[in-house]
Amino acid sequence: MAVLLEIKNASKRYGDQILLDEASATITDDGKVGFVGRNGAGKSTLLRVILGEEELDGGEVVHHPRLRLGYLRQHDPFLPDESALDFLMRDSSQPDWKCGEVAGQFELKGDYLDGPVRELSGGWQTRVKLAALLLHEPNLLLLDEPTNFLDLRTQMLLEHFLRTFKEACLIVSHDRGFLTATCDRTLDLSRGKLTAYPGKIDAFLGYQQEQREHLERVNAATLAKKRQLEQFIAKNRAKASTASQARSKAKQLERLELEEIASDAPTAAIRPRSPPVRGPPFVVLILPLAIPTAPWPTTWPSK
Ligand SMILES: Nc1ncnc2c1ncn2[C@@H]1O[C@H](COP(=O)(O)OP(=O)(O)OP(=O)(O)O)[C@@H](O)[C@H]1O
Ligand SMILES: [Mg+2]
Repeated sequence: MAVLLEIKNASKRYGDQILLDEASATITDDGKVGFVGRNGAGKSTLLRVILGEEELDGGEVVHHPRLRLGYLRQHDPFLPDESALDFLMRDSSQPDWKCGEVAGQFELKGDYLDGPVRELSGGWQTRVKLAALLLHEPNLLLLDEPTNFLDLRTQMLLEHFLRTFKEACLIVSHDRGFLTATCDRTLDLSRGKLTAYPGKIDAFLGYQQEQREHLERVNAATLAKKRQLEQFIAKNRAKASTASQARSKAKQLERLELEEIASDAPTAAIRPRSPPVRGPPFVVLILPLAIPTAPWPTTWPSK
């Protein structure tokens, strides 16, 4: 196990909004990390910081010399009339056979590989970008909502690719099924703090639920104790014989504090798995996704 990236006491705010509040985390080369948090928590911002596109207000992100970052480009990197193969060779400086081999993992061949890349659909262009990414042989992949806007087949290929990819990944996604299939650990960003959890998203959500329930029990016990003290004080503060005891109980009461329970946990709204997407028949698999109003929330709750 070797460290690739260290986030140390990172702080970042936009105006009054605090996204990172002395947050720390370490990314190592031996795992795939699902990065979660409610909408607007600051996940994309942190990825931009890691990529050097955004600056921190405090703290630092340390890139280890062995780190080779890879990320999926959002912009169009293609030249007019360029074929996918030409692009891959130009972009990676790798020979055509090597580019063709990697492109084949994403079913890019024939006209898809040799025709003008700009005429391909968004999903196919994403496959070309994924092949390009891979040709650079990164050892840490940063992916921000990679399944958004992808057709089902490309989603499946991406999922398969990530499962077989031997290097580390940091993947932001609201799709629980995708995270379950591709990641073995979890990083959560809530209220400015990063929490690393050494298990899959479901185990993390279960852990978070247990934490909440534990704090709720602690708070219920604290409230009961408060009521008991208040009653004692009300009954005894006026009597000379018990007034000093009541004063001491009042001090005890002042010290009792309720635990803060996060209400913005991702648990409630993280999307369950899309319908199973294993092999043909294709039509049957596509239909459930075409239903426009999913019964489940598709985003995190807002604050
Ligand atoms: N350049 C910027 N200037 C000002 N505010 C910004 C900027 N970039 C992001 N924000 C705000 O910071 C907050 C965090 O944004 P960010 O995109 O990092 O969240 P996120 O966790 O990726 O959310 P989502 O899950 O919706 O993608 C948002 O409220 C956003 O509006
Ligand atoms: Mg985002």
